[in-house]
Formats: sequence, C-alpha cells, structure tokens
Amino acid sequence: MLLDLAAEDGDAVARAAADRDVDLVVVGPEAPLVAGVADALADAGIRCFGPTRAAAELEGSKSFCKQVMAAAGVPTAEYAVVSDAQAGLAAITRYPAVIKADGLAAGKGVIIVQDEAQAREALRQLLVERRFGTERVVVEEHLEGEELSLLALCDGHTALPLASAQDYKRIFDGDRGPNTGGMGSYSPVPAVDAERAREICATVHQPVLDELARRGIAFHGVLYAGLMMTADGPKVLEFNVRFGDPETQAILPRLRTDLLALLDAAVEPGGLEGAQLEWRPETAVTVVLASRGYPESSSSGDEIRGLDRVPPDVYVTHAGTANGRHGAVVTAGGRVLSVTALGGDTAAARADAYAAADMIDFDGKQLRRDIALRAVKTA
Ligand code: AMP
Ligand code: GLY
Repeated sequence: MLLDLAAEDGDAVARAAADRDVDLVVVGPEAPLVAGVADALADAGIRCFGPTRAAAELEGSKSFCKQVMAAAGVPTAEYAVVSDAQAGLAAITRYPAVIKADGLAAGKGVIIVQDEAQAREALRQLLVERRFGTERVVVEEHLEGEELSLLALCDGHTALPLASAQDYKRIFDGDRGPNTGGMGSYSPVPAVDAERAREICATVHQPVLDELARRGIAFHGVLYAGLMMTADGPKVLEFNVRFGDPETQAILPRLRTDLLALLDAAVEPGGLEGAQLEWRPETAVTVVLASRGYPESSSSGDEIRGLDRVPPDVYVTHAGTANGRHGAVVTAGGRVLSVTALGGDTAAARADAYAAADMIDFDGKQLRRDIALRAVKTA
C-alpha cells in the first residue's frame, strides 16, 4: 500500500504508523533521517530502524563527520572546512585535490580538480552559485586506491559488518565522467572477506559508534563507510547513515539470515549481540540503467520495454520508474532501475546481469559495461 504523505514529515509518518499499529518503521533514505523522522517516531513510542537527526549528521554534514572521525581516531583524508573561495584555494597544497559541498547532494557534490583553474571554478559553483545550497565546502587531500563500501548494522553499541561491496560512481566506463549516485556494484569484494571486514569495522565503524555514544547519541541503523583502500590502509571518504544504493542490491540477495529479524534486533540497545550472519557463496553483480542526461539532468516518461523478458532469478529493482498509460512502465528519474544477478563466480554473475540489462530498453538508456570487471580480473 502506498500512502500519500511526505517522507520527510516526521509527525505525519508517526501518525500514519500509529494509525496502523505498525511495530517497526525502517527509514530508508537520508533526507528523512537528516530531517529527524526517527526522532518523531521515537517521541511517538514507535520503534524505528534508522538513526536520529543528531546521528544522521554524519551524512548530512561533512564537517561534523570529519570532527567525529578526528575525535574517534578514524583514518581519513587531510581536510579543511572553508566558506570562501580564497581560503579554499589556500587550503590546497597539491593537485589533484577534492572539493565537496558540506551537505546532502545525492552523491553529486564532490568535484575532483586537477589544477588551480578547475579549483577556482569548483569553488565558484559551490560557494558563489551555491549549486547544492551549502555555505561551506570541505577541501580534501586526494586519496589513491580501490574504493570499498562496508556497511554495518548498528544497535547503539555494536557494529556488525555486512559483506563487502564496491560501487562504480562515475557515469562512464573506465571511471570517466562526473560522479553519480552509483552506476553498478558487486559483492563480495575478493580482497575483503568476512575476517577483513571485521578488522575494518573494528577500526572504522566501532570507534565512530563509541564516539557518538560518548556524545550521548545512540546509533541504531546502517552505518555505511565509503573507504579508499590506500597504500597506508583503509581511509574513510564518507559515511552514509543508511543502506547504500546500488550496493544493497548486490549485498542483500546473498544474505541468508532473516533481514527483518536483524533490523528488529538492532532497534534494541545491544540487540545484535551474538548475532551471526550467514551468506550465500555466490557473487552478486548489479548494473544500473539510467536515463538520458543523467547525472546532470534526467528524462521522464519514456516507456520501458522488456521487463517481462527478465528471468525470474534476476532481480530488477525499480527506482526512477512510474506507471504510464495502458499498463506501461515509464522512466521517472535519473537512475531508473537496477538489475542484479547471482553467479558461481563474478564472470557468471556479470554475464547474467548484462544479459538481463540488455533485455530491458528505453529511449536514452545509459549503462556502464565494465561493472565488476575488476573483480573478474583479480579472481
Ligand atoms: P563522497 O560523497 O565523499 O563519498 O565522494 C564521492 C566519490 O568521490 C567517492 O566515492 C570517490 O570516488 C570520490 N572521492 C571523494 N573523496 C575523495 C578523496 N579524498 N580522494 C579521492 N576520491 C575521492
Ligand atoms: N552508493 C552510494 C550511496 O548510496 O550513496
């Protein structure tokens, strides 16, 4: 059942949940979390999986996130927070450098600059034009390495890592073009098995949970670390306070343990203690289909054909889709849908995911052809 209410309106969500005797609300995206929907639910005595407004600042404010990491001793890029372009330029000691809007930008507020001219232009867009509506930017050292997404379920005390995943952020093959919300993913990452994931979690997620707890903030939900695996070890690029898209599409089909029971347990302080996760041995590969113009813009209303041809063991996850006329499904946003296949190895999963992605068609369809290719090569 779809309810016609604003997801960011905490009181409306709490009322709707109370009216229906809902036992557990899972708040998915960042905007309602940052807006305090979890707080409104807590005030109404309704159990909620998803962090409070204060905890969601880890994602909502890059400067808060950096402060918490510094206090917790979590490795991350060197950085400065500035509010004018002159200070921004002065903070850059080496190129390439990274300039980030200090707020929510749907994965698009990060600009990697190669020289001073690009830095000036990026600072102008973020601070003068206020492209993402923020007053401050974070200027950051550019880190080199493979990226890793490691998500952990958190019960206020303990962080329990999920299987590792990798996200493909750029729009074009070979990691070219602007950043997007994510064009594909796979799980697990061969170099990061369960043991390694636990080690990373112990040096990244757990210290952050502990630091938040010291500040009186109990984090119940998913803490997602975007990491760069540098020559000096893993360093945090960002935290998200929710399931990642499209990593989750590759992670969850492999989870054998009952997800609902885990989410339910994580709402209780310490509720995940002793929980063990069981995973299917297959690899999962997810390919995102985006609409014309993405990520700068998007197009809507184009009929999506071929959904009925996708085999039943391939998962199609809808994102920017809508019901069109005469039973048609049409595009309605930038990232339209994603396709996930499981396979005995990465090559097999890739082949099935791309076969299904090619069965689905719409005008202006964009996809990357190199999702999970790295994992095939290192296997
Ligand atoms: P963020 O939203 O901070 O995760 O940044 C989005 C993407 O920009 C990351 O997934 C990286 O691909 C890239 N990025 C962000 N920060 C850095 C950095 N310090 N060094 C290199 N790449 C970065
Ligand atoms: N895949 C990146 C994100 O969910 O923000």
